[in-house]
Amino acid sequence: MYICICKGITDKTIRQAVADGKTFKMLKRELGLATQCGTCIEAAVTEYQQALLAEQVAASVRPHEVIAVQQVA
Ligand code: FES
Repeated sequence: MYICICKGITDKTIRQAVADGKTFKMLKRELGLATQCGTCIEAAVTEYQQALLAEQVAASVRPHEVIAVQQVA
């Protein structure tokens, strides 16, 4: 889904950028996210925050914990 129509930036692009360790400021500078008309800023920030949270949750779960949960279930 497109988040920033002006620059053709999708939610997938933002998620990948977060996975690559990019900050929101870097997305603005490198991709031009929310730098033209600016109407996408709220959606862009929300998408960025959700992607960041998902990365943090994924990083906090260790593989052996996933296996232990799967064995209990
Ligand atoms: S829609 Fe993102 S700057 Fe216009």
